[in-house]
Amino acid sequence: GLTAGAALARRPAVTGAELRSAVPLPPAFRTPLPLPRVLAPDATSGGADRYTITQREASAEILPGVRTPLWTYEGTFPGPTIESRRGRPVVVTHRNELPVPTVVHLHGGRTPADSDGYPTDLVLPARHPHTGHGGHGMHDPRAVISRGTRRYTFPLDQRPTLLWYHDHRMDFTAPAIWYGLAGLHIVRDDAEEALGLPAGARELPLMIADRAFDAGGNLAYPALDPTLSERPGVREPYLAGVLGDVILVNGAPWPVHEVDAARYRLRVLNASNARHYELEAVGDDGRRLPLVQVGADQGLLAAPVTHRSLPIAPAERYDVVVDFADVPVGGRVRLRNRLGSGRTRDVMAFRVARRAADGSRVPRVLAADLPEWRRSDAVRVRDFSFRAGRMRGGHGWLIGGLPFDPARTDVTARLGDVEVWRLVADVHHPVHLHLVGFRVLSRGGRPPLPHDAGLKDTVSLRPGESAEIITRFDGHRGRYLFHCHNAEHEDMGMMANLEIV
Ligand code: C2O
Ligand code: CU
Repeated sequence: GLTAGAALARRPAVTGAELRSAVPLPPAFRTPLPLPRVLAPDATSGGADRYTITQREASAEILPGVRTPLWTYEGTFPGPTIESRRGRPVVVTHRNELPVPTVVHLHGGRTPADSDGYPTDLVLPARHPHTGHGGHGMHDPRAVISRGTRRYTFPLDQRPTLLWYHDHRMDFTAPAIWYGLAGLHIVRDDAEEALGLPAGARELPLMIADRAFDAGGNLAYPALDPTLSERPGVREPYLAGVLGDVILVNGAPWPVHEVDAARYRLRVLNASNARHYELEAVGDDGRRLPLVQVGADQGLLAAPVTHRSLPIAPAERYDVVVDFADVPVGGRVRLRNRLGSGRTRDVMAFRVARRAADGSRVPRVLAADLPEWRRSDAVRVRDFSFRAGRMRGGHGWLIGGLPFDPARTDVTARLGDVEVWRLVADVHHPVHLHLVGFRVLSRGGRPPLPHDAGLKDTVSLRPGESAEIITRFDGHRGRYLFHCHNAEHEDMGMMANLEIV
């Protein structure tokens, strides 16, 4: 199995901040884009949809002719997609057949605290003996440990949007996601469907994630181990966040998808541990197709926003319509990453296969009921710095000068209160709040940028930048989190407790 020890034995080659794969990589735009399977419920009793997901080791042919061992939900990476209706509860029983404890979090879900995947609420392996501590011997008296299986309940009483579920174990989230523990969850409702946005085969979920492969075809990951910290060039990329040199979309390297000359709705998630992208759609003539953003992390915008390129940080989602109508049949549109270099410049391609009728539209009004909290609604303003610092005798990442401690309550917020949070970063930090959506009020002391539109659950702070966000704490009481979604930063301390009372 893929244990930390096994990962250590296969020390990956490290070049700068990016792991370089030690196997031959396929040419871009040859592998067909996979679409993750939509999971069927076991039962739809009592007004809820019930699912079972087994977490287990599996292998997949990600690179041609190479078997890559993975940690999976139901045997695949990405895991199966769950599709559900707004307000219809989903109950997922997760069974852990992996050799390590796990924790499941539905990112962006308005979930009761006991199903939100607190990082010490472990599901211990069903088949492997394990002591079950949360990591580094830190004891959390409030942890609720399950043995083998755990039932998570998601009310999904929230705006339709693209959510994702992923591992959230304390100190080990980054390797768990890297090894494959991530899947999509789409929430829909009648109002959104009535808008006439592209649908069916013209709606594509795109989970973008970078990875690197060692000589044996295994996913390369620099394990968190003190012996590595002395080796120059090994600890550093881990500390900054792990980057791979292969860009996967829905688990396939630089894939290609055949499309009609029509509008497509792209539901884009950056599921990378640490890589930021700035996406652009470039035709064969070098011209950029407009990216018409219709939704953000937490659902539809009030009105569409047109971008030439769109920055996307880890855990952010953008709902974007691209119109291929003017692309000649046989032509290709590449989805490129302006922040990449060499092979990480490319993400995937669309090949226009045929002309086709298009009855879809992008209405000028999308969501009429987005919350518009004002500064004057806020009963409190809080300040948080996101900066590097010392923790556990080494380097780490801190919020307000402190590393994560499950035993400490960092913020107590009252249910129903509106608050403004001022966030400031040293380097790039995508800051994520559990439970609530928020609006970006300002960025760098100026009005928000076009891509800050809508209801967010993750805001990408750039190096040295500050931002103000505003939200209302509602829905559920209990212990939640906020943290940096650079998964390595998160594992190395950059997480804090938010208690809603
Ligand atoms: Cu996507 Cu706290 O997580
Ligand atoms: Cu960070």
